[in-house]
Amino acid sequence: MAIAQPGLWKRHEFFERNSILLLIGILIVVAIGGLIEIVPLFYLKSTIEAVEGVRPYTPLELAGRTVYVREGCYLCHSQMVRPMRDEVERYGHFSLAAESLYDHPFQWGSKRTGPDLARVGGKYSDAWHREHLKDPRAVVPGSIMPAYPFLDRPLDAEAIADDLTANARLGVPYSRDMILRADSDLTAQLDPDGADAGFAQRYPGAVAHAPGEKGCPTELDALVAYLQVLGTMVDFKLYDDRSNLR
Ligand code: HEC
Repeated sequence: MAIAQPGLWKRHEFFERNSILLLIGILIVVAIGGLIEIVPLFYLKSTIEAVEGVRPYTPLELAGRTVYVREGCYLCHSQMVRPMRDEVERYGHFSLAAESLYDHPFQWGSKRTGPDLARVGGKYSDAWHREHLKDPRAVVPGSIMPAYPFLDRPLDAEAIADDLTANARLGVPYSRDMILRADSDLTAQLDPDGADAGFAQRYPGAVAHAPGEKGCPTELDALVAYLQVLGTMVDFKLYDDRSNLR
């Protein structure tokens, strides 16, 4: 059979007869595609669009998050509402990348033995969460969630300022002031008379929680504060209401 372009074939023959050169040639061609996809990302300041309302966790919420991770809640609960109709109807607006911006590591999870928790904040009262965590069957008959009665013990928050510092190193905008006041801010959120003005300025929109009967912050207090903030930072009414669209 006649070869249509003998010149091109001759050049190709050179590669086909040298397998190492062919391999290098393939790598170069594939790398061009990869570079076109990856290099622009180095020049973007952030690949995550900033969204109004997303703020770093308060010290109490951050401590609660640590309990959440320690207890492995993520093994049964995801924290990501996918943009599919059944999910959005059940859990609310699909999750935005910005909502996990200050999560190190993120808690998207990969398994749902229990429901997604990305928007559980505000769904129940603090008292419900306390009851549910101590004994799930007391409020949800037939629940298969394990009980965590031992969480009603004093919270070890000695390292909370270090925790904020570590998060700041990873890019969470905790200021020096926030780190210095981490200890007092942790208890401020459990003050029944309302937190002081400085706290509200540092963590806009943070909700104060009533402390348990222990008289000191407990792991349960922290975990409930964390659960109650999940999915509440972004006000989706701003986006869902058509009249707000410009
Ligand atoms: C073995 C799997 C499992 C583990 C581990 C687990 N859960 Fe659950 N969770 C469930 C199941 C199943 C339900 C649904 C029944 C119920 O409400 O108790 C649930 C429900 C919940 C709910 C109510 C959600 C809603 O929208 O009604 C919350 C909040 C919750 N879990 C928090 C936690 C926290 C916090 C931890 C870790 C301390 C945890 N769970 C660990 C299985 C689990």
